[in-house]
Amino acid sequence: MEIGIDKLGFYTPHLYVDMNDLAEERGIDPGKFTVGLGQEEMAVPPITQDPVSLASNAAEQILDEDDKDAIDLVLFGTESGVDHSKSAAVYVHQLLGLNPKARSVELKQACYGATAGIQMAKGHIALHPDKKVLILASDIARYGLNTPGESTQGAGAVAILVSASPRLLALESTSTYYTADIMDFWRPVYSSTAFVDGKYSNEQYIAFFHKVWEDYQEQTGRSLTDFAAIAFHLPYTKMGWKALRTVIEDVPEEAQERLKNNYQISTKYNRQVGNIYTGSLYLSLLSLLENQDELKEADIIGLYSYGSGAVGEFLSGKLQPGFKEHLQTAVHQTMFENRERISVATYEDVFEQTLPTDGSEKQLQTSEDPAKICLAGVNDHMRSYVVK
Ligand code: CAA
Repeated sequence: MEIGIDKLGFYTPHLYVDMNDLAEERGIDPGKFTVGLGQEEMAVPPITQDPVSLASNAAEQILDEDDKDAIDLVLFGTESGVDHSKSAAVYVHQLLGLNPKARSVELKQACYGATAGIQMAKGHIALHPDKKVLILASDIARYGLNTPGESTQGAGAVAILVSASPRLLALESTSTYYTADIMDFWRPVYSSTAFVDGKYSNEQYIAFFHKVWEDYQEQTGRSLTDFAAIAFHLPYTKMGWKALRTVIEDVPEEAQERLKNNYQISTKYNRQVGNIYTGSLYLSLLSLLENQDELKEADIIGLYSYGSGAVGEFLSGKLQPGFKEHLQTAVHQTMFENRERISVATYEDVFEQTLPTDGSEKQLQTSEDPAKICLAGVNDHMRSYVVK
C-alpha cells in the first residue's frame, strides 16, 4: 500500500512588503535581501489573520465533502499557536465542519512540527487505510521591527491531506532523523517575538542536514543522482542552497545542473512569502510541483526538514501518475496576483496592531480582508472567527 500526500493547499495573507522598499527604509543595500538572503517580498498578516484562520483558509481550498467525512485525525504543526492549552486543530476542525469522530491535536517542535505530523499520519493510515489525515502547517514569523531577523519574517499556511493511494507524492519508508538540545532559535512563553542566534542557527541547519543526509545514504544506498530534486526548509531561500552546495560538488554535471535548477524553482513561492516556519518546506515542495513542468511520474523528491532547538529529518517521496492535474496551481497564481503591495510605513502600522494582552475585549473589522475565514475578535478571553 502506498501512503502519502494526496492534496496540498496554501494560503498567504493579501498584504506584502517589497524587500527593496524595506531595504531602502532601513538604509541597507537591497542586494543583501534579494541576493544575500534571496527574498523578494514578505507577506504581512493583517490583525484579522492568525495561524488558525490561515490554516483554515489553506485547507478549505482542497477539501471536498468526501475528504471531510474521511478525515479522522487533524494534526496542527505550529510554533505561533494561539492558546497554551486548547489546540489550534480543534478550531480548524470546527471552522471546516469536519466529521466529529476525529482526533485533533497541535504539535510543536519549531519548524519541524508538520513533518512529525506527516510521519504520524503515515502510521495512522497504515492501520486505517480508509481514513485520511489533515495536517496543517501554519505560522506567523515575527522577529520585530528593525531587528536582524526582520527581513526573514512571513506568514502563511500549507494544508496537507495524507491518504492511501495518494495522487501527488507517495512517501517512501526510509527517513532519517536527529535530535540535539541547542539554543539557536526559541520563543519563551512570555515573548511575542522569537529570540535567535542567527549565525549559529545557520550553522546548525547545515550540520543537521549532513547528519540526516549521511544517515539516509547509508540506509538506502542512494546518492544525489537518484533525486529529481530536493526541497528544503527555507527560513530564507538562500539557506537551502547553502546546505545543498556543500554536498553537490562531486555529483556528475548533469545531475548537478538538474538539482541546482530545481532548487531555484522550489524557492519561487518562498521568495514571495518569506518564512512560514512549519509550512516553509511544504511551500517549497509546492513551488517545485506547480512550477517545474519537466517533473514526471516516479521521479524521486527529497525533503529536508529542520526545526530549531533542534530536530532535523530527511524524507523522500515518489511522484504519482498525473500528479499535475491534482494541484491548485491556478488558485495559487491568482492569490499571488491579487495581493496588495503596502509601504513600509503601513507594514509597521499593521505590525503594531495586536490583540490586547490584558484580557480586554476586541472586535475586529473583517470587511477589508478578502480571506474567506477571518479572526473576528476576542471576547471574554475567547477568540471568535467568521466564515464569509
Ligand atoms: N549584496 C549581496 N549580498 C549581500 C549584500 C549585498 N549588498 N550584503 C550582504 N550580503 C550577504 C552577506 O554576504 C550574507 O551572505 P552569506 O550568508 O552567504 O555570507 C547574507 O547577505 C546575509 O548577510 P548577514 O549574514 O550579514 O545578515 P545578518 O547578520 O543580518 O543575518 C540572518 C542574516 C542570520 C539570516 C538573520 O536574518 C536572522 O537571524 N534570521 C533569523 C534566523 C534564521 O532564519 N536562521 C536560519 C536557520 S534556523 C532555521 O531554519 C529555523 C527557522 O526557520 C528560524
